[in-house]
Amino acid sequence: MKKTILITGGAGFIGSHVVRLFVTKYPDYQIINLDALTYAGNLENLNDVADAQNYKFVKGDITDEKFIPHLFSTYQFDGVVHLAAESHVDRSITDPFAFIRTNVFGTCNLLNAAKEAWKGNMEGKRFYHVSTDEVYGALDFDGTFFTETTKYDPHSPYSASKASSDHFVRAYHDTYGLPVVISNCSNNYGANHFPEKLIPLSINNIKNNRPIPIYGKGENVRDWLWVNDHVRAIDTIFHNGKNGETYNIGGNNEWSNIDLIRALCDIMDRKLQREQGESAKLITFVKDRAGHDLRYAIDSTKLQRELGWKPSLQFEEGLEKTVDWYLANQTWMDNIINGDYQKYYEKQYLER
Ligand code: NAD
Ligand code: DAU
Repeated sequence: MKKTILITGGAGFIGSHVVRLFVTKYPDYQIINLDALTYAGNLENLNDVADAQNYKFVKGDITDEKFIPHLFSTYQFDGVVHLAAESHVDRSITDPFAFIRTNVFGTCNLLNAAKEAWKGNMEGKRFYHVSTDEVYGALDFDGTFFTETTKYDPHSPYSASKASSDHFVRAYHDTYGLPVVISNCSNNYGANHFPEKLIPLSINNIKNNRPIPIYGKGENVRDWLWVNDHVRAIDTIFHNGKNGETYNIGGNNEWSNIDLIRALCDIMDRKLQREQGESAKLITFVKDRAGHDLRYAIDSTKLQRELGWKPSLQFEEGLEKTVDWYLANQTWMDNIINGDYQKYYEKQYLER
């Protein structure tokens, strides 16, 4: 069936994998990728689909109150998959307002444009908001999990901004009948992950014999999911999820940061033909992140039972694939590292 779909943030890490899947799997869909190309946006992520007939890139900002309604009237979207966001917790601590602007105001601007464009006939329309498990706060080491009914308790400006955007999405559903779905996912990893996040940052530092900064004691736990599995879940929820519902997405794959980095060091030693234990010598404990959430763990039973999704990859296999991708795509990394980002990174690292 022919549809025109707006994907926001499609030049970022997860968004680029979503764009690729939709463009290749649904040749009848016209995919419009709207991205402001902030420091995190990178069109190189999409070189392989850039010339596809059913794909178009539009540079634009989701906070632009004139441009966004204009875009909706130009393309008459049937659906929106909204990923554009400021996504890095550490940056939210130094610049919270950027997160309020994009994640809260930008989301509201899109919701409002969709409401106006779809007014009078919302049949077959869908606004999908991609959110995070961080809205639920932090768990203790007590074996509990976040479910879809866990009370929101965000701690960082990033998670507070995402929580706020989730509330607005639900408010537009309850107040205006906007057909929405939300998913809250755990930590993704895989190809094209921006090297300010733990796994790609560590791969790059290990390769270059630089310190691997571990916040605090490295005891914080995250649930890691291969990005392609997240993207399959997004596809499933976009097409089969129920309006007004929330779905948790997770890998059932908890690792403390220090255990994860040790496992990564072992893989890197093998791949770089270093002596076993050599990369782990780069581990450096640094000042903890302010308000650092102790543990995230997702219960994705609802998604598995109702929509039949499950993760496909074991973590060790996924981590190895990820390392292989970074080692084979050094130019992708160099193009980021050689730009302004490296100056930003050095400054952050020195300040810790
Ligand atoms: P990312 O930082 O890699 O990419 C964000 C993209 O959004 C970039 O291409 C950037 O240019 C674009 N963008 C930022 N501000 C914009 C604006 N004002 N207008 C238009 N485009 C803008 O982020 P990611 O890790 O791919 O995350 C994508 C989404 O998934 C986010 O909403 C994030 O909250 C959510 N999420 C991420 C994870 C994760 O582990 N990375 C897990 C769960 C949920
Ligand atoms: O849980 C989903 C979230 O996962 C997403 O919503 C966010 O967009 C995404 O960035 C990610 O947030 P985290 O803060 O968990 O990811 P990050 O890679 O920044 O950090 C992972 C863990 O590693 C966290 O406990 C902090 C720690 N860390 C991170 C960095 C960058 C370090 O110890 N050292 C580091 O240098």
